[in-house]
Amino acid sequence: MDPTLRRLLLLFSLLSLLLLLLPIRRRSADAATVFTEFLYPNFSASSVNYIEKDGVFLLSLSSAFSATLPSDSPQSPFVFTIVHSPTSTVVWTANPTNPAPYTAALSFSPDGLSISSNNSVIWSTPRLPRPATAAQLLDSGNLLILDAANNSLWQSFEHPTDTLLSSQRLPADAYLSAPSGDYRLLVTGSDAALLWYSVAASQQFWSFSSDPRSIKDLNAPVSYMAANESGLYLFSAAGRVVFEITLPPTKLRVMKLESGGQFSIMGYSGNGSTLDQTLVAPTGDCNLPSSCMELDVCTAQSQGVSCNCPASFHASGGGGGCIPADGSTPFSPIAGCSSSNFSGQINETELSYRSLGGGVSYIANKFESPASSVADFTSCQNLCTEKCSCLGFFFQNSSNSCFLVKNRIGSLVNTSNDGVFDTGIGYIKVLASTKPQLDSSGGASSSNLLPILLPSIAVFLLIIVLIFAGTQWWRRRIRHRAGKRRPRSTASSKPSTMKEVHLGRNHLWPFPADIGGSSGDDSSSDSDDISIPGLPTRFTYSDLLTATDNFSTKIGSGGFGEVFKGQLPDKTLVAVKRISAGVGGSVHGKKEFCTEIAVIGNIHHVNLVRLRGFCAEGRRRMLVYEYMNRGSLERPLFGAGPVLEWQERMEIAIGAARGLAYLHFDCSQKIIHCDIKPENILLNDGGSVKISDFGLAKLISPEQSGFFTTMRGTRGYLAPEWLTNSAISDRTDVYSYGMVLLEIIRGRKNRSVGSSGGGGSSSGSSGIGDVGYFPMAALELHERGRYIQLADRRLEGRVTEEEVAKAVKIALCCLHEDPSLRPSMAAVVAMLDGTVEVSQPRTESLNFLRLYGRGFVDYGGSATTGELITATTSSSSTVSYSYLTSQEVSGPR
Ligand SMILES: *[C@@H]1O[C@H](CO)[C@@H](O)[C@H](O)[C@H]1NC(C)=O
Ligand SMILES: *[C@@H]1O[C@H](CO)[C@@H](O)[C@H](O)[C@H]1NC(C)=O
Ligand SMILES: *[C@@H]1O[C@H](CO)[C@@H](O)[C@H](O)[C@H]1NC(C)=O
Ligand SMILES: *[C@@H]1O[C@H](CO)[C@@H](O)[C@H](O)[C@H]1NC(C)=O
Ligand SMILES: *[C@@H]1O[C@H](CO)[C@@H](O)[C@H](O)[C@H]1NC(C)=O
Ligand SMILES: *[C@@H]1O[C@H](CO)[C@@H](O)[C@H](O)[C@H]1NC(C)=O
Ligand SMILES: *[C@@H]1O[C@H](CO)[C@@H](O)[C@H](O)[C@H]1NC(C)=O
Ligand SMILES: *[C@@H]1O[C@H](CO)[C@@H](O)[C@H](O)[C@H]1NC(C)=O
Ligand SMILES: *[C@@H]1O[C@H](CO)[C@@H](O)[C@H](O)[C@H]1NC(C)=O
Repeated sequence: MDPTLRRLLLLFSLLSLLLLLLPIRRRSADAATVFTEFLYPNFSASSVNYIEKDGVFLLSLSSAFSATLPSDSPQSPFVFTIVHSPTSTVVWTANPTNPAPYTAALSFSPDGLSISSNNSVIWSTPRLPRPATAAQLLDSGNLLILDAANNSLWQSFEHPTDTLLSSQRLPADAYLSAPSGDYRLLVTGSDAALLWYSVAASQQFWSFSSDPRSIKDLNAPVSYMAANESGLYLFSAAGRVVFEITLPPTKLRVMKLESGGQFSIMGYSGNGSTLDQTLVAPTGDCNLPSSCMELDVCTAQSQGVSCNCPASFHASGGGGGCIPADGSTPFSPIAGCSSSNFSGQINETELSYRSLGGGVSYIANKFESPASSVADFTSCQNLCTEKCSCLGFFFQNSSNSCFLVKNRIGSLVNTSNDGVFDTGIGYIKVLASTKPQLDSSGGASSSNLLPILLPSIAVFLLIIVLIFAGTQWWRRRIRHRAGKRRPRSTASSKPSTMKEVHLGRNHLWPFPADIGGSSGDDSSSDSDDISIPGLPTRFTYSDLLTATDNFSTKIGSGGFGEVFKGQLPDKTLVAVKRISAGVGGSVHGKKEFCTEIAVIGNIHHVNLVRLRGFCAEGRRRMLVYEYMNRGSLERPLFGAGPVLEWQERMEIAIGAARGLAYLHFDCSQKIIHCDIKPENILLNDGGSVKISDFGLAKLISPEQSGFFTTMRGTRGYLAPEWLTNSAISDRTDVYSYGMVLLEIIRGRKNRSVGSSGGGGSSSGSSGIGDVGYFPMAALELHERGRYIQLADRRLEGRVTEEEVAKAVKIALCCLHEDPSLRPSMAAVVAMLDGTVEVSQPRTESLNFLRLYGRGFVDYGGSATTGELITATTSSSSTVSYSYLTSQEVSGPR
């Protein structure tokens, strides 16, 4: 008895000691509790407390919904959201339009919820009639604020953002607003409508009652919209159904107004991590104002849409969309002309009209009533001329109906599409060119720089010059391009999780030059006119030939191609990456290339190399980056030059980590780099550290991770999941980062023998390094607690053991075999800069390093990089990542 008791006592005291110690070690993480269902006053939370918990601070009873703060990156704005947990779908956002800085805090007090930063309130619930005693997150996704008697004082369901859930009502006069702010779903007293929203005058492009799938049940005013398991309804005040659209049964309905204007109804079966697309309104890919660019005629194809300029219009260069081929300029409303008068700003005699030709209509006409008191064509035209806000009109001869288009105009629809209302012939108001009209074929479209109101004489001269300069070249291009155009594919058949990306490709970035058919206007729509909002500067090949002095100074070469130093006319230095023929040219069409460029070009972060522009001519693909004068980390780290001091190394490590954290954060289009290595970390005088080549491994949306079909990356930095059929995620980059961090610590390549990268310098013989596989040595010395031996010998003791220990532990955490055990890049940043305590590496998830060390193989070595690995996929949402060889994926420098 006695010895047993003693043993028990010993065990007990050990346990209590552990319990005492645990909270101390993990204090920073455990300080934050995740509440279930209820939250009580005096609650306050900032992102930093909840980094480890993915930002979740409150769960509904069944965990179906969670209330979250941003968890990812100091660069990300502070938004307070409610998320459907299984699908990670954001269903409500407190402050979508006024994000707070990352350092803000959310608090709950008897006055309600508020977000404040630096003592100023950025968002709060309105003044409550009685003090709040609790906040409750229901399993329906509704967040309530309750008073002492459990009455609701405020609820998130009454303040929807862009999403509606089953059991949530959208009352008359309330609306959902798309994230872009351009679209609204409004419930009116008699219907529900999708609006292309503007303050001056919104244009309607869908109504519930006109949807072919809707049924009218009752003649009564509409009081609210709501959905349940069996359908979507407009209800009367008495709760009777006025209109209905029946839908297949599903457990939970999520209805979202997408940023492209579609109202998308999705269902969640209660299983899995995706929502199923049930229905999209409006029907037809052409029935959105932004199906194509301005004045582009959208024609529905069996797959997707094609966009063509109307006859006698051609693609404009700069802004996208179509402009009259005769050189006249579409009238654009003068700022502040919400009143109907010109007030002498423009001499009306300078205005005229250009016909859009037959077979073209405007989607908003269907929802407008024709202008009254118009007897004939002339009075319709005069009505438009008088109104400053009028951009054009449609006149139907047979019925004398006159439809004015006011304030703005989107894409047009081909009336041969199903369900399009023929509203006669359209006329666009233009500021007439006073010059003789041009022959518009071909060259006219090269007037890329045509600003809207440039005097037409300048336009004319520019066009003439360009025509002469480029005749030969254009002819060649046009011949080259013939018969190469394909219709775009549509998103509607894809699961909803891919919606964002596909909508982006199909609707938000329409390509006026993407011709499905064979319009007579073909030549002017050569794909050089591809116009995607946000595209960075487009350089011509000859611009770059001049800038790089005929590609004379090569500063790097590698996978994607060679890199040359160049100087732009404004004297800024640039690095011009000439993508090898066969990489960009054949794999990516120009359109895909431009789409990616538009995304990459819009990513700005101090730790990411800035894309200045690009060139896509014929089969040539070039990227123009800012110039980083110290080149890549590889040289100072492995080279024979002066030794990088520890401080500097850690600054590089943090900078690179920040850049990656930023890439991983962006919710809509998370970017996984896929090729983190010292060659892709660039340095500049003044200590800036930037990651290059991001985005080239294609974009990946958060839900899509795991559907790569091709292995990418560089041997030595490849995470195990590339070979084990598991999902590729941001944690895959974390692994590569861990490998790089070890190399930063040691100052040599992780593999010393037989590696293609070579050790570079043979500076000193580090006993550890010679073992071969440094990650294994790091693991073993970590277990023995002898970190100092791992540091670069060239530092000769100018670093403390403590500093090395911290970096080694972080690196090992990044190398965990189980990706879910690896920290996010944001957590790595926090650990490196000391705001969060360093976690302990988990040996059980690192033992594989020994295997790879002993056998002296690593994951990258055992398979040829770039070999086709089928790491897929059951779902239809396979992303087709194009095949690239290892050479191609490892970027230059
Ligand atoms: C909240 O804090 C205030 C003062 O800071 C205190 O008076 C009040 O009792 C606290 N309320 C609760 C519910 O803890
Ligand atoms: C916070 O506010 C104070 C005074 O209003 C100001 O001086 C300070 O710069 C602010 N800090 C930040 C981080 O904005
Ligand atoms: C309010 O609801 C909570 C949780 O359901 C319950 O514990 C509490 O007794 C209720 N209070 C009142 C006054 O009904
Ligand atoms: C959904 O609501 C409609 C209209 O009130 C009703 O007829 C129908 O039975 C409801 N469906 C379910 C599954 O409750
Ligand atoms: C969930 O999925 C499994 C397998 O796909 C299926 O057997 C099960 O019936 C599903 N459950 C529900 C509630 O749909
Ligand atoms: C337009 O301006 C003219 C003269 O400037 C004025 O007579 C007329 O009433 C104005 N019309 C409107 C609708 O403001
Ligand atoms: C408009 O221009 C015409 C011809 O250029 C000129 O005769 C007329 O006086 C101008 N009208 C005004 C209001 O300036
Ligand atoms: C419409 O009517 C006007 C006048 O009656 C005529 O000049 C014009 O050609 C007609 N247009 C069409 C498309 O029929
Ligand atoms: C409209 O569609 C028809 C049939 O698809 C096509 O022949 C015609 O060229 C299209 N019109 C325009 C202006 O694109």
